[in-house]
Amino acid sequence: MTKDQLIEAILKEKKQRNISILAHTYQAPEIIDIADITGDSFALSVAATKLQSDTVLMCGVRFMAETVKILSPEKRVILSDADATCPMAVQLQKSQIEQYRKEHPDHTVVAYINTTAELKSVCDVCVTSSSAVKIVSKLPAKDILFIPDPNLGSFVAKQLPDKNIYLMNGCCPVHHQITAEDVLAAKNQHPDAKLAMHPECRPEALQYADYIGATSGIIEYTMATDEPVIIGTERGVCDYIKYKHPDKKVYQLCKDKLTCTNMKLTTLQGVYDAICGNGGCDIELSEQLRVAAKKSIDNMLYYGN
Ligand code: 13P
Ligand code: SF4
Repeated sequence: MTKDQLIEAILKEKKQRNISILAHTYQAPEIIDIADITGDSFALSVAATKLQSDTVLMCGVRFMAETVKILSPEKRVILSDADATCPMAVQLQKSQIEQYRKEHPDHTVVAYINTTAELKSVCDVCVTSSSAVKIVSKLPAKDILFIPDPNLGSFVAKQLPDKNIYLMNGCCPVHHQITAEDVLAAKNQHPDAKLAMHPECRPEALQYADYIGATSGIIEYTMATDEPVIIGTERGVCDYIKYKHPDKKVYQLCKDKLTCTNMKLTTLQGVYDAICGNGGCDIELSEQLRVAAKKSIDNMLYYGN
């Protein structure tokens, strides 16, 4: 099939089979185009509570599909590619958190949504990069363990000096590669441009940013300014802005480093195969795990909305 035929077939099949397609902002523009809902991790979680369809196809990574299943257990939830896993989501073990809780029973454990359902099940509240500061600021506890991303955790700690934020080892292997030198080189190359960055980048690199926020925030910031913008996050955001708004002047920070191979596993052919039952991966969670993990997502929606 040609690309256009494939797109037509996807749209026809998804309508006939009552399937909603959700796509994260890092997906390729052609995937965004066939999706019913696109957005950052928080927007996709909220959307998951409101869907009318029987089946949901998540074009993103596994924790995003798990979040949909946790919130909508009656639906069939398919991940577009069985191997699309966020490496950061699997960096910590449940037993590490259980041990920490034993040693610090009065601390609140905050999990970035980029975690497995199993990890979420032993945490108190989830956050996304767009909601982390807001949610942590509303928590009654002063002592907070923030997992698994110390870069995002440090960003939150900087905004909320009244909280004691404790961190563990972990990182996004994509964003963590960006160094202060990379940022200074890009600013040197585009001296008239603003710099928008994702808080998964190291603090030493973030110090030069004009704006720090989630993928959705970076897009909003870029669209609101007349000045050119260097985009410091996974290349999907810059590709999306160039595709949707060809007049907008944007530059990708570190083209060679900011590609998330897991996010890029989803293709139009893969989406078609998954819709037709010949690909993708059904998300299954035991009821016990789902209910335990749901508490932290419900708390996120409660504090974040
Ligand atoms: P957002 O929550 O900003 O969409 O980011 C998700 C993610 O995986 C960033 O790497
Ligand atoms: Fe995970 Fe980083 Fe990829 Fe986001 S960009 S999905 S945090 S590996």
